[in-house]
Amino acid sequence: MYSENHFNSIDWRELPPAPPDGEPDRQYYFMARCRRKVEEFERENGRRPTANVTTFGCQMNARDSEKLAGILRAVGYEIVGTEDADFVIYNTCTVRDNANQKVYGRLGVLNGYKRRNPRMKIALCGCMMQEPEVLEKIRASYRFVDLIFGTHNLFKFAELLDTVLEEQGRVVDLWKDTDQIVEELPVERKYPFKSGINIMFGCDNFCSYCIVPYVRGRERSRQPEEILREIRRLAEDGVVEVMLLGQNVNSYGKGLERPLSFAELLREVEKIEGIRRIRFMTSHPKDLSDELIAVMRDSEKICHHLHLPLQSGSTRILRAMNRRYTKEQYLELAEKLRREIPDIAITTDIIIGFPGETMEDVEETLDVIRRVRFDNAFTFLYSKRTGTPAASMENQVPEEQARAGFDRVLKLVQETAREQTARWQGQVCEVLVEGQNESDPSLVTGRMSNNTLVHFPGGRELIGQLVPVSLEECCGFYYLGHRRETV
Ligand code: SAH
Ligand code: SF4
Ligand code: F3S
Repeated sequence: MYSENHFNSIDWRELPPAPPDGEPDRQYYFMARCRRKVEEFERENGRRPTANVTTFGCQMNARDSEKLAGILRAVGYEIVGTEDADFVIYNTCTVRDNANQKVYGRLGVLNGYKRRNPRMKIALCGCMMQEPEVLEKIRASYRFVDLIFGTHNLFKFAELLDTVLEEQGRVVDLWKDTDQIVEELPVERKYPFKSGINIMFGCDNFCSYCIVPYVRGRERSRQPEEILREIRRLAEDGVVEVMLLGQNVNSYGKGLERPLSFAELLREVEKIEGIRRIRFMTSHPKDLSDELIAVMRDSEKICHHLHLPLQSGSTRILRAMNRRYTKEQYLELAEKLRREIPDIAITTDIIIGFPGETMEDVEETLDVIRRVRFDNAFTFLYSKRTGTPAASMENQVPEEQARAGFDRVLKLVQETAREQTARWQGQVCEVLVEGQNESDPSLVTGRMSNNTLVHFPGGRELIGQLVPVSLEECCGFYYLGHRRETV
């Protein structure tokens, strides 16, 4: 069997004419073929070809992009930040229309680069590609795109790359769904000290506004042994913080041969030596168990931060959204969390302008914000997504009204978030240093357990380390501080 470790010893000059059966061996075979082509390029041009991976969308897409970059790097590409490269891939998002518009806009710029570099290849993948209308539009109006694939066959990237490097003309491979989970392909992590880990794929919740279940397919959990093995390996490789990823991590484990709850999985992750911090994303309020709250409370490693999307504070709208909880149930849950874990940060997502939403409904949302006192919140204007039940609801809200509600919600959310952030003033807490400050290189930037950003004087050698910092000045949503000897 081929594997990442064995890949370097494959003699690609002696490759058999046909690929092996089964994954991931098949992909390693194609990676070896791609490497041959990359070396040809190098001989002809006197330099390695460059590749750029640009991510739109959520943490799950970001993790997928690390897999794409892993393969590109393994076959010999130099990964670069500029999109003026020999191979450019956009990993797209379609959760709201503005995500799509961004892609179309930037494709125009890529076309300009391609005119100057005719050997350039342009690839599109990710959620947006799973929509048939998008494919049609790209086929008709963006003829310079060379490769299109989707979310279900991302593991086939090496094979598709080989085809596109071989052939002139466009390669399109889109699957409607899959039950396959292919592991053990190379990954190029963005940060050496922290990493996302997929624990499940897809979503079965079908919130009535949301396109994710249509473009990411049915919910599937990864085997716990696979997840733990991956995390152990990451820990050996210097990772201290892991983020467990899924659209609804609280329903992890359903459908496994030996079902295991998300709380039980967390207990296992906790045991892994070298891992100092555990985060997860995203939790659905309807599935958040008391068991999970207890595990969070008693854990040494699970960060005291919970992202718990509210979407709306109006029970009537929540029902139309198919969220399956009421305003009161959400409030109770938040209260329980604050009672059990007093220093927890609760963050959320809110949609304004869902069909049928009135100013009274917005008032209900404002009421929940006041009562829960979110530590941070992402607010979104409702975006109509083709094929979702909400798109065909008759009572769509006029944009002007939605904007008025949005402005009120945003204002309150910012006020409470500011006040909540200020709660830590004067304390000393542990910060995981993530990098040098972009505007002031004498500072480094890191995150507290509750996800708040902290800037303090320090050098690059601190990156990836957990250090005690005194939180001296609260500046809205972040702190300025100084390093201390102990917490
Ligand atoms: N699985 C996660 C959310 C994934 S999408 C969850 O259920 O919490 C991230 C956020 O995008 C959602 O929480 C929601 O607030 C927002 N969103 C999803 N579809 C949207 C739409 N059609 N219009 C506006 N915002 C949307
Ligand atoms: Fe979308 Fe709802 Fe699934 Fe989240 S839980 S991805 S909002 S359908
Ligand atoms: Fe966007 Fe797909 Fe994530 S639609 S939010 S990238 S799952």
